[in-house]
Order: sequence, then structure tokens, then C-alpha cells
Amino acid sequence: MSNAPSQENVTRDELVQGLQEDLAREYKAIIQYVIFSQVLDRAKYMSIAEQLEVHAHQELDHALKIARQLDYFGAYPTHQPQDIWTSESNEDMLWFDLKAEDFTIENYRGRIRQAQALGEFALAETLQEIITQEQDHQIDLATALGVVPDDQQRQGQGPQLPGGGREG
Ligand SMILES: [Fe+2]
Ligand SMILES: [Fe+2]
Repeated sequence: MSNAPSQENVTRDELVQGLQEDLAREYKAIIQYVIFSQVLDRAKYMSIAEQLEVHAHQELDHALKIARQLDYFGAYPTHQPQDIWTSESNEDMLWFDLKAEDFTIENYRGRIRQAQALGEFALAETLQEIITQEQDHQIDLATALGVVPDDQQRQGQGPQLPGGGREG
């Protein structure tokens, strides 16, 4: 993945644009977790289904925090989620959530550096709290799938992503 946000000479506008994309990613996460937590139906995935319900609430909390930051910067928060990935397959649903968490974490890592580069330390701290929960989500999903949480170590694993794997 090479879409990590750059922090060199980052401007406030770029930071705000990045936060809008983060918010769109949070909406996507809420929607996928709402659906998948209810439709997972394999007996062996019942406990992860309960965890996905918890994730849905946490993603809403993240969305509210990002929207608050956008308002702070005088930007009107987006209403548009990133492209939603769905499937009827239990494994694919879990993989889609895992890959979405990978993208989310990669982007928040970059966003934290951008916030620090601009001296926006309160924002950086808020994002650090969020990324800690995203990594917990990544661990929950990877554990359910029996793969390692670190995405660097599972390159090429998992199903083809809808839309060619690009973020919508
Ligand atoms: Fe989130
Ligand atoms: Fe998450």
C-alpha cells in the first residue's frame, strides 16, 4: 500500500482533506460492522460477531471525534462514506473488515505525523487514542481468521477486494 499520507511540508488544507477521508472511512466501517455483525452465521464466528457489534459503536465514536476536529478547523464534515465492501461469505466479510482496518491504520499513522508536523498536538493525541482501538479491531479480525494482525506479514493473503482493492 503506497497511499500513506505525506507529512513533508503538509499544509492545513491537506490535513483537513485527510480528516475528511478519515471520516468517510469511519462511516464505511460503521456500515460494514452493522451489517456483518448481524449476518455472520457460521457457528465458529459467533463470538467475533459479538465483537463486531462493539466495533460498530467504537467506529461511531471515532466518526464523532473526527467530525468534531473538522468543525474545529472550520470545515463542514463530509456525509459520504467510502465504498462499502459486502459479501455473503463469512470469511470474505471478515477479510473485508480486516483490509479496511489495514487502510485505516496506515492512514491514521500518516495523519498523526501530519498533525505533529503542524503542531496540532491535541489532534495527534485524539488520533492516537483512535488508532489504538483500530489496532485492537485488526487483532480481533486477524485472530478470528487465524492470520497475523501485522499486514506486512500477510501480503497477498485474503480474497480479491471489490473494486480492485482501491479505496473508494
Ligand atoms: Fe474507526
Ligand atoms: Fe476499526
